[in-house]
Amino acid sequence: MAKLKVGFIGVGGIAAVHLKNLASNEDADITAVCDIVEANAKRVAEEHSAAAYTEADNMLENEELDVIFLCVPPFAHGDLEEKIVARGIHLMVEKPVGLSMEEARTKQGVIQQAGVICATGYCLRYLDTVQKAKAYLADKEIAMVRGHYISTFVETPWYRTMSKSGGQLVEQATHIADLIRYLGGDIDKVYANMALKVSNDIENIDIPDVTSVSFTFENGAVGHLDCSFTQTDHRMGVELLGKDFRVVIDGTSLTILEKDNVVTTNSEVDFYEEQDKAFIEAIVTGNTDKILSDYTNGLKTLEFTLAANESQANGNVISIT
Ligand SMILES: NC(=O)c1ccc[n+]([C@@H]2O[C@H](COP(=O)([O-])OP(=O)(O)OC[C@H]3O[C@@H](n4cnc5c(N)ncnc54)[C@H](O)[C@@H]3O)[C@@H](O)[C@H]2O)c1
Repeated sequence: MAKLKVGFIGVGGIAAVHLKNLASNEDADITAVCDIVEANAKRVAEEHSAAAYTEADNMLENEELDVIFLCVPPFAHGDLEEKIVARGIHLMVEKPVGLSMEEARTKQGVIQQAGVICATGYCLRYLDTVQKAKAYLADKEIAMVRGHYISTFVETPWYRTMSKSGGQLVEQATHIADLIRYLGGDIDKVYANMALKVSNDIENIDIPDVTSVSFTFENGAVGHLDCSFTQTDHRMGVELLGKDFRVVIDGTSLTILEKDNVVTTNSEVDFYEEQDKAFIEAIVTGNTDKILSDYTNGLKTLEFTLAANESQANGNVISIT
């Protein structure tokens, strides 16, 4: 079978990870790349013997692509998804899938109608340790979930602006929000407190540097997620608690604690590589079982985090079911 012709829109930080994975995937050929910064498009195109574009429309018009990796910042999606799937091109969309539920729902409808395969970049689901946690929890009743994403500030210019990134919860801690949903279940109600407390010295910043979210699950469990970029190191994780057990994802490792029994497992996989392999394999075989986050899932995780932003804005508990 001929290799899949893969295109990229946006060739910044995360695209470099996907490009590396696709360069070593025998079913994929990096055919064309597009970035509004011409020098970056040309540099990446040269590295992969691909065609360079600065406008997505031109790339779509001139290339017969099978797959596109959409790796632009959250505010820059525009109607790219609609244009891509209208041509029957399969799509990997980086998280978060947008900044507006209305727009994301419209895209969801168009993607479903086009019948293409679409994955969203919730890469932590592909950790072997997360899969072990999921299997362990299958017959357990979870009572409480605690999540955190505590890190340093991201220098990227658009990250600091609420209207461009959605803030740390929507943009980064979304990975933990997604794991909370994946392992704990769907969210029911959300209440949040956020503040820009100690990072006012950062030029043009208007996103909170501390965020605290309380929520309940449809299954009746309760939970909490906090995030901050005030620190000099990076910590992220989720704890799920039930009667006489605790499942702890700390970074990429897993610890399961029961009475007189504690087992820690370290991950042995590159979760980004697993994610990209599963996506390309799904297109080759037509079997999407190994895709762990489709567009609808990305939309639901966006809904959870945007509900927290809404709660912060109006002081209310937000119902999302
Ligand atoms: N899954 C993960 O672990 C992970 C990690 C990092 C970033 N991301 C996500 O990936 C997305 C991009 O983040 P990044 O860190 O790569 O950002 P970045 O700023 O490093 O790169 C984005 C690139 O997109 C280009 N761009 C912007 N608008 C464009 C357009 N209309 N057409 C073509 N190119 C355009 C920019 O010039 C830039 O080169 C974000 O949504 C982010 O949350 C995911």
